[in-house]
Amino acid sequence: MSTSNKTWFIAGTAVSAAALVLWQQTKTKPVVRNGRTFGQQYGPWAIVTGAAREEGLGYGFARQLAGQHINLVLVDILGDELEARAETLRQTYYVKVKTAVIDLGQRDFLTQLLPVTAGLEIGLLVCNHMFTPKDTPPILQMDLETHHAMIDINARAYTTLVHTFGRQMVAQGHGGMLLVSSQAALRGTPYTGAYSANKAFQMMLGESLWYELRHANVDVLVLTPGLTHTQGNDLDGYPPIMMMEVEPVVREALAGLGHKHLVIPGPVNKIMQFAAAHLMTRRGALIASGDLMAHGLGK
Ligand SMILES: NC(=O)c1ccc[n+]([C@@H]2O[C@H](COP(=O)([O-])OP(=O)(O)OC[C@H]3O[C@@H](n4cnc5c(N)ncnc54)[C@H](OP(=O)(O)O)[C@@H]3O)[C@@H](O)[C@H]2O)c1
Repeated sequence: MSTSNKTWFIAGTAVSAAALVLWQQTKTKPVVRNGRTFGQQYGPWAIVTGAAREEGLGYGFARQLAGQHINLVLVDILGDELEARAETLRQTYYVKVKTAVIDLGQRDFLTQLLPVTAGLEIGLLVCNHMFTPKDTPPILQMDLETHHAMIDINARAYTTLVHTFGRQMVAQGHGGMLLVSSQAALRGTPYTGAYSANKAFQMMLGESLWYELRHANVDVLVLTPGLTHTQGNDLDGYPPIMMMEVEPVVREALAGLGHKHLVIPGPVNKIMQFAAAHLMTRRGALIASGDLMAHGLGK
């Protein structure tokens, strides 16, 4: 092995080990902060958007929150699936679960959501829903109507939800908001550029809000998952080492609430972000991201 290869190997091993230790440390943290338990800080009710699909991250959040005895308001556009998930949660965890079948791309969606949450003390908002076309076309090949729909669902609705329930949490003196962004927010992501831009919006909104609410006892956290097993075999073109399961992603995010402003889940995503931020130029990282997407999409 050449000297330069050895250096890379040692540096890579050290970074992997450090990331693993950090990841392990985030796994169990029963007391949130100021002596308050998870339920006291983030209960008794949580809203989870985009919670209908059985394999999705939203339902993963709903399961783990129900496991901590938090009652749920589940929101999604898919009515039948949402009710099926709700019934399973009621029967498995004995929590109360309300459903709101809503198109979050509608500008006045609060008129449908607020009657469902009326009178409930919402301690946690998990903004997790998203819309992106399955074929993820390049920016100029996607029609403008779809761009605007994505902005409405992925940016406008996030702002509306955070603004509405954030104000309620500040008034009630406790709470948390978890925005599910993406690794695609961390740098331009060619071939899914509109999604990447929406995710960057969510990330900047959440990070700024974290600072603004630091002293209001409302914890804000941005989660940036990498590739996660939620899409059947749609992500099969990507290296398997990059894939994470839903449960550890959700567990690490919930463990970070009240302690961190940003969770990059799993050791591989952490290493990739470290490499992109510290071992490459921003332009180099952008090109690597585009090449990976082209490979994954078979372009
Ligand atoms: N899976 C990954 O590899 C990955 C990686 C990074 C970040 N993320 C993020 O993780 C979050 C969850 O993603 P997921 O992979 O678990 O996907 P998912 O199960 O498809 O979750 C998104 C949910 O939002 C719903 N939705 C779409 N448009 C809506 C609208 N207008 N109103 C209400 N609900 C709507 C979807 O319904 P339809 O199925 O009808 O569209 C779906 O049930 C997303 O924010 C995503 O960007 C995922």
